[in-house]
Amino acid sequence: MKLPEEYCDEFLCENCFKFLPKLPDECVDLVLTDPPYGIDYQSNRRVAREKLPKFEGDVDLSWLPRFVEEIERVLKPNRHFYCFTRFDTYPVFYKAISERFKIKNCLIWVKNNHGSGDLKGSYAPQSEMIIFAAKGRRELFGPRESDVLPYKNVPSALRAHATQKPVDLLRLLVEKSTLPEEIVLDPFAGTGSTGLACKDTLRQKGDKKERFYVLTELNRDFHRAGLRGGLGRQGRLWQNLPRIESAVPAKKRPVVRSRRMPRARANETLPLDLRIPT
Ligand SMILES: C[S@@+](CC[C@H](N)C(=O)[O-])C[C@H]1O[C@@H](n2cnc3c(N)ncnc32)[C@H](O)[C@@H]1O
Repeated sequence: MKLPEEYCDEFLCENCFKFLPKLPDECVDLVLTDPPYGIDYQSNRRVAREKLPKFEGDVDLSWLPRFVEEIERVLKPNRHFYCFTRFDTYPVFYKAISERFKIKNCLIWVKNNHGSGDLKGSYAPQSEMIIFAAKGRRELFGPRESDVLPYKNVPSALRAHATQKPVDLLRLLVEKSTLPEEIVLDPFAGTGSTGLACKDTLRQKGDKKERFYVLTELNRDFHRAGLRGGLGRQGRLWQNLPRIESAVPAKKRPVVRSRRMPRARANETLPLDLRIPT
């Protein structure tokens, strides 16, 4: 079925559990999402700046089976589902997703920086996991990629959200799993990085048509940050609008932008046995 026109390229400030039931069956081509992990996450900035706010729904994962069921319903046959997770909640996500999808990989996003945690009693966390699952079968587009994805994190000075994901990483996943003009759903959109990745496919890859998005985010502040970044109705004017980064005053903005690391440098961030021959 078709996604109702009113939702096409929309970033809605809405509870996804109320929104998803409004969608017809089999109406989107990809689900790419970064849900709350059920760990009550609080950013732990070392610099004396305000901590980024906690976000909703991060208390437990009781909502997960119902969510996966809705995702399977709204996704077209022979399409993909990417879901960010982390090492300690991976088993819960794996179980819920594998009940309705074929899990194909656990992708590892390797960052150029690491989080804090127990500074003396644990290894510095420098990676996140992305479950890659399929409803039916669809071949991936483009050259074969490793399941280890080295991408720079969004510099903390540019983040409007504690767990904001780099647009370049999301764009890779969108391009591997969709064709131009297909529709990408992100129900837990945060600042809307998935929407920016959809629009970016046009600019970066030279495709004649970009991907369309439909995003929901419960928190008004994150939603507003996304709109300032050029999503929602304004998204149609995307090329004339500042990107999310520009929500930060220009003088505070470092020159570094989230961009794929050169392979040689990315290799340096990996353990020896994971390095890719250059
Ligand atoms: C891990 S964050 C996503 C961050 C996003 N990937 C980004 O780059 O900005 C998860 C988001 O889901 C939102 N959320 C939690 N429960 C929700 C719900 N029921 N409906 C919509 N959004 C929800 C939270 O407010 C939070 O911003």
